Amino acid sequence: MDRIKSGEGMRGLLIGMGLFASLVIVANAEDITYTTHIKRIIDAQCVSCHGNNAPEHGDFKKDKEGFSKRGLGPKMDSYAHLAGYAGWPDSGALMRRLDDGKNTKDGKPGNMYHHMGGTDEERQRNLQLFKAWVGNWSLKRFPEMTKEDLAGISVKY
Ligand code: HEC
Repeated sequence: MDRIKSGEGMRGLLIGMGLFASLVIVANAEDITYTTHIKRIIDAQCVSCHGNNAPEHGDFKKDKEGFSKRGLGPKMDSYAHLAGYAGWPDSGALMRRLDDGKNTKDGKPGNMYHHMGGTDEERQRNLQLFKAWVGNWSLKRFPEMTKEDLAGISVKY
């Protein structure tokens, strides 16, 4: 009898722990927003090249080399601009550039990953925030993305 009881107790405990762990993960993903978590990373690490004086993506594309030489990438200093590099029209660009190499085909980090912080720890911490914010961390381009891939991109304001 005692054995059965303690077995049940153990099972209850494991189920409880599993439930707790999944709740923590869900809560994390849902709590990450542009205004609370992401904007401050962009302001600290990205706007020197993607800020006020940076061009719209369409203008950037007309003279990629010229802007890049001046240290300017396309404008990303608003929610709408940034979200367009995750979902649409520049689907997956944010994920391809910020990935640390764990999801890239050649195992190399995206070329903006090193801007995510001064230390490995900071870069990883910020990457985890971006991943939770984006939701479906897909490196695919728009033509390869399925409707489900796109629907999984959350980028909450
Ligand atoms: C020192 C300047 C600099 C900093 C800082 C910087 N970037 Fe960039 N970024 C560029 C330039 C220049 C380009 C365009 C050249 C290229 O494609 O690599 C670019 C391109 C990009 C692109 C691709 C845009 C496209 O055309 O699809 C993304 C996404 C991006 N950056 C995100 C970021 C994020 C997020 C940060 C901050 C964590 C950041 N960058 C920090 C200079 C910078």
